[in-house]
Amino acid sequence: MRHANAEPIAIADGIADYLSQQEHKSLLRFLTCGSVDDGKSTLIGRLLFDTKLIFEDQLAALEKDSRKHGTTGDEIDLALLVDGLEAEREQGITIDVAYRFFATPKRKFIVADTPGHEQYTRNMATGASTADLAVVLVDARRGVLKQTRRHSIIASLLGIKHVILAVNKIDLVGYDRATFEAITADYAAFAKTLGFASITPIPISARYGDNIIALSHSMPWYSGPTLLGHLEAVDVESNAAEQPFRFPVQYVNRPNLDFRGFAGTVASGVVAVGDEVVVAKSGKSSHIKRIVAHGGDLPRASEGQAVTLVLQDEIEVSRGNILAAPRARPHVADQFAANIVWFDEQALLPGRAYILRTETDQVNATVTDLRHRIDVNSFAEIAAKSLDMNEVGVCNLATQAPIAFDSFAENRATGAFVLIDRMTNATVGAGMIRHGLRRADNIHWQDLAVDRSARSALKLQSPRVFWFTGLSGSGKSTIANLLEKRLYSTGRHTYLLDGDNIRHGLNRDLGFSDADRVENIRRVAEVAKLMADAGLIVIVSFISPFRAERQMARDLMAPGEFVEVFVDTPFDVCAARDRKGLYARAMRGEIKNFTGLDSPYEEPESPEVHLRTVGRSPDEMIEELIRWLNQQDGAEAYDDGGGI
Ligand code: ADX
Repeated sequence: MRHANAEPIAIADGIADYLSQQEHKSLLRFLTCGSVDDGKSTLIGRLLFDTKLIFEDQLAALEKDSRKHGTTGDEIDLALLVDGLEAEREQGITIDVAYRFFATPKRKFIVADTPGHEQYTRNMATGASTADLAVVLVDARRGVLKQTRRHSIIASLLGIKHVILAVNKIDLVGYDRATFEAITADYAAFAKTLGFASITPIPISARYGDNIIALSHSMPWYSGPTLLGHLEAVDVESNAAEQPFRFPVQYVNRPNLDFRGFAGTVASGVVAVGDEVVVAKSGKSSHIKRIVAHGGDLPRASEGQAVTLVLQDEIEVSRGNILAAPRARPHVADQFAANIVWFDEQALLPGRAYILRTETDQVNATVTDLRHRIDVNSFAEIAAKSLDMNEVGVCNLATQAPIAFDSFAENRATGAFVLIDRMTNATVGAGMIRHGLRRADNIHWQDLAVDRSARSALKLQSPRVFWFTGLSGSGKSTIANLLEKRLYSTGRHTYLLDGDNIRHGLNRDLGFSDADRVENIRRVAEVAKLMADAGLIVIVSFISPFRAERQMARDLMAPGEFVEVFVDTPFDVCAARDRKGLYARAMRGEIKNFTGLDSPYEEPESPEVHLRTVGRSPDEMIEELIRWLNQQDGAEAYDDGGGI
């Protein structure tokens, strides 16, 4: 019996050994960048093939596919192994970021294969966010191209420190040393300012396997490492363990009254039982009582380990906070400068509110200043008013509440964030924090003795903001005027903010680009808020074409205070009336960015009041508005002569 059992136990031990061996191998994350023709997919295919990670059945399928789709004649086309999707094969390009895992006896690898065509920035940002190293592929026949420079600049912006310059297709230039050296020198001169810690040039042929895992006999002049050899040996551990301790709190784990722990993953540094830690945002400190992990308690935990920390004292640590080393605390601020990579088809507009999400925190944020755009082809700084898809900008941001962070250069986990569109919930950008801005320091909200309720009580009214939106010439101003007259005649204290008028003064510097309209609305919304605070009934009459800014205005006001009034007059009707003659001029091409023509108008989805104007008089609109108001505030409060 014992004998019969011996073998399975030995196998089980073997598996356990094997698993533990895998677990203790270091992990290198890298990405490949290069154009469709540089041989990226072939290179990854070669790595997987040569490290014996392809199984027999995959190989048979590959041989078949190579004959059907391949570009290498009768030989196996290794790129097909990587370009998995049928659609990709049909188009002959790699379309999305694909992650592949492989291992050698020395190390484990995760490679992100990012496409080289249009969506490059976005895909690279996705693939590179955790990568330690970039393999920059260059075709030996073509040398360093605009695209090589672009990919390298983006890699540097994304915090990648190590580069392998893989000069591929060296077979096609007769394994020529001078060609390789010229490309290497060219690249080194260009990359000088990018701040890479190491650049390792290697001449390779992905197709024939030269210098991939074994040194090539065709290049006796080359004495450096093979590609895989370098990937196995390169030291990217950086100084993660020496970095200050950072523990972003994912959630508070409180299964019962006797246990309260903070769950998360150590982002950098080490922590041991007994260590003092500080809560980044509040500055409160305590000591580590226990470090609880999956298999039991640990004496210490370091970067990458998922643990639950139990503190000695009951201090307040909410989600979104960071536990940190007391002598090297993260910054806490509500204003900071960051590099932003923009992903979305709709441009980034300064002044628009987005959701900013860090590893653990989520807060509303606006870009207060787009300082400049970085040209990813030349690294030059270019003045810009908005950021288009795939562009990178240096921005100042303001968040609604302070966040805890490090600079991205110091810590890629606590220095990064994404921006999310509040309307669509799509991730529209990725950010890397440069530094905090001190400007807002020492400015505290003053609670004043006479407050809004005191002010409005004196006026015997509840403040409101009537927000009229609609096309130019839709009748907003006419109706807004009549409304103000009616409110005034019933003893209300009012003020009317009209687009055309405000653009003569406060907003004189703004035009009609998307970015300027966002700023136009931001300013008038802030003014309306102040006036409502003063106890007034405010009427705002602006085209205000974007949902996001109308939502922003709504969010600024007290609950129930914002009344969106959609003055719904179709474009053709406005154009036919054309009281200011603007439609005729816009249609002749004399006015650019005209709302409804070559600049969008996003109709309100659920306005409080929807005024369909066609075939009805302004007085009828007013009656409809007053009916709505009477319903809100009690019968007849706003009827003529009603008063309070
Ligand atoms: S908004 O889009 O930024 O809200 P706003 O209400 O301030 O616009 O100003 C609109 C007024 O500016 C229009 O009523 C019209 O008289 C004038 N105008 C001049 N150029 C344009 C344009 N390109 N698009 C729309 N309105 C314009």
